[in-house]
Amino acid sequence: MVADGSADAIQLVGVIGAGQMGNGIAHVAALSGLDVVLTDLRPEALAQALATIGKNLDRQVQKGAVTESDRTAALGRITTASETRALGQCDIVIEAATEREEIKTAILKDLVPHLKPDAIIATNTSSISITRLAAVTDRPHRVIGMHFMNPVPVMKLVEVIRGIATDDATFGAVQALATRMGKTTAVAEDYPAFIVNRVLIPMINEAAYALMEGVGSVSAIDTAMKLGTNQPMGPLELGDFIGLDTCLAIMRVLQDGMGDSKYRPCPLLVKYVEAGWLGRKTKRGFYDYA
Ligand code: CAA
Repeated sequence: MVADGSADAIQLVGVIGAGQMGNGIAHVAALSGLDVVLTDLRPEALAQALATIGKNLDRQVQKGAVTESDRTAALGRITTASETRALGQCDIVIEAATEREEIKTAILKDLVPHLKPDAIIATNTSSISITRLAAVTDRPHRVIGMHFMNPVPVMKLVEVIRGIATDDATFGAVQALATRMGKTTAVAEDYPAFIVNRVLIPMINEAAYALMEGVGSVSAIDTAMKLGTNQPMGPLELGDFIGLDTCLAIMRVLQDGMGDSKYRPCPLLVKYVEAGWLGRKTKRGFYDYA
């Protein structure tokens, strides 16, 4: 029962999608004492996610941030499954699939019949309307945006986004859950790309324009922004880290949702995505990782 808005009432967390966001969310949830069911259609993605979580926990043990027994306990709290019905007992399910609306709506429609009546559905979408995603479910009042940052174990923020119908109990429960997971929340209204990506992704897009127009080289642009504005990564390196396909998808959400030409995707960014140069995950983007 989670209707009281307390995070203590949430004990079993479902995570859909075992990619870099999903495995990070599962990692942090398990480390904060929650039981986790991690699902993905691809069994090989689940095996890879468990290996990544183990490796990232090792890193935290080596740094002294996590004890060996906490590491073992966290891994013991995560179960994996390929079938949606495995999420049937979850108090909250956090959807962390690919940033494409048709994929997310298909997942939500498939999920709903398996859920407990009062289970919360959170989506880790980084740009898509919560209100629109909620409308394909049977419980728009229990649907909310819970946007984690990458790498999830390191980044302190969770952006919380209410859809038009999200009720206060759901909002309170998710705020408290994020706090329990050691995160600080920032509340954003449900407009395209919310706060973080409304500001961040146009910056990356603009860096791609600067490169395309020859304003600077890849290294000059990143050095200028890293040292000139004290960012840990330059915008092109960060684009490769996020995934250039994700950056392009978010620019398109901004362009469609705002109808303003200032959000036009940079043709060079489009070209890279069309070439399959998606950044780190394909070992080629603005940088070469081979
Ligand atoms: N799991 C656990 N710990 C991790 C980790 C992971 N996946 N990745 C890095 N770390 C830890 C390291 O162990 C290290 O810990 P200590 O500080 O205790 O030593 C720390 O993070 C720093 O890591 P590294 O020393 O390996 O490397 P770094 O100093 O170059 O930092 C970085 C790496 C944390 C990724 C840093 O470059 C950074 O903060 N980059 C910017 C990240 C960012 O902006 N993320 C947001 C992207 S936008 C987004 O996510 C929203 C969206 O929708 C697109």
